Amino acid sequence: MLNFEYYTPTKVVFGKNAEAQVGKLVKEQNCKKVLVHYGSGSAKRSGLLDRIFDSLRAEGIDFVSLGGVVPNPRLSKVYEGIDLCRKENVDFILAVGGGSVLDSAKAIGYGLENDCDVWDLYMNKAKPTGATPVGAVLTIAAAGSEMSNSSVITNEDGWLKRSCNTDYIRCKFAVMNPELTYTLPKYQTASGCTDILMHTMERFFSLEKHTELTDRISESLMRTVMRNAKILMTQPENYDARAEVMWAGSLSHNGLTGCGTGGGDWAPHQLEHELGGMFDVAHGAGLAAVWGSWARYVYHTDVSRFVQFAVNVMGVTNDFRDPEGVALAGIEAMEKFYHEIEMPISIHELGVDVTDEQIKELAYKCSFENTRTIGQFQKLNLQDIEKIYEMAR
Ligand code: NZQ
Ligand code: ZN
Repeated sequence: MLNFEYYTPTKVVFGKNAEAQVGKLVKEQNCKKVLVHYGSGSAKRSGLLDRIFDSLRAEGIDFVSLGGVVPNPRLSKVYEGIDLCRKENVDFILAVGGGSVLDSAKAIGYGLENDCDVWDLYMNKAKPTGATPVGAVLTIAAAGSEMSNSSVITNEDGWLKRSCNTDYIRCKFAVMNPELTYTLPKYQTASGCTDILMHTMERFFSLEKHTELTDRISESLMRTVMRNAKILMTQPENYDARAEVMWAGSLSHNGLTGCGTGGGDWAPHQLEHELGGMFDVAHGAGLAAVWGSWARYVYHTDVSRFVQFAVNVMGVTNDFRDPEGVALAGIEAMEKFYHEIEMPISIHELGVDVTDEQIKELAYKCSFENTRTIGQFQKLNLQDIEKIYEMAR
């Protein structure tokens, strides 16, 4: 087991009607004025936003609001939020929505406390020294931003999607009512479940051998998500299935499934971030589109890890004479699952027909203009990245 730090300071309030506690939770933060940040309309349509406003008013909390965050949240909205918060002397940000709203809120939080262009923090040109605190009311189980140290923003100038990861930005609290996710379109539910799975798979595919407890946690998390994702395809208002998936989303990305396995691989995520930046695809669906190609490209590095995945997670029968066959059967079984929940397993199925030039551009951007490798399980350079995009085409 490798050395690790595990830090999860977010207070979780989980269950039916949890959002009624928002006013009280914000009050505990001793802030003077709150920005309520939200997306393109779902929170308004469902009446959630009004209930949040009522809960804040009931506690006598002063607030302003800013909506309009889109999936793959934009830097321009972050600047708008920073300006509004400065003008209104906001000292706490309440995100009501999914990963995109949370990440936009986190970016505004960074922008308010750091004396530089906030994009510099995402481009690694400056390091954050703090952030205005953020709390969350989650409406989709997916990105895990409610308990993660990460914020991912897309700059429309060049369509670059980049992340900034520090503990400053971990949510003070996360309010999670699985019922709030009943209204999700099927595609977003499936895409969210894929992202949750991937957050554990990124950490599971490690070269470290002695991670028995973490492996068992990860394997059971992945099986739980797959079982309940299938239920949600036909029963979107199944509370227990929504609850299992929502809790898995947080545990998948709060560090638990990476304890002792190293920092995670993250190559599939890096490959997806360029697709998201250039083609504005749903993050989870983008991950499903590239994962199989990544897996087939790297599994030789440690076939036994892919055998463990195939047998313990995907239910493939072990055949000790043919570990490679078992490893490949596990990858195929995962792709079959993606199809069962109507997720793509290629970039074409994702709805994008990339040209040769675009594959080169994706790979160039993903390698930060040929200045870095991605991945830990197997380090991948510009040429490797290009080949994987080609396989995923
Ligand atoms: O904007 P609204 O109208 O709310 O619509 C959203 C959006 O269209 C809709 N939605 C959300 N809750 C809903 C709902 N529709 C009906 N009912 C509800 N209850 O769903 C759509 C997707 O929302 P989004 O927030 O984009 O989804 P997700 O949570 O998957 O977030 C994706 C973003 O998070 C980033 C991704 O790259 C992507 O930009 N990630 C953030 C991470 C982090 N901060 O730790 C880690 C992830 O790996 C990921 O990169
Ligand atoms: Zn993700």
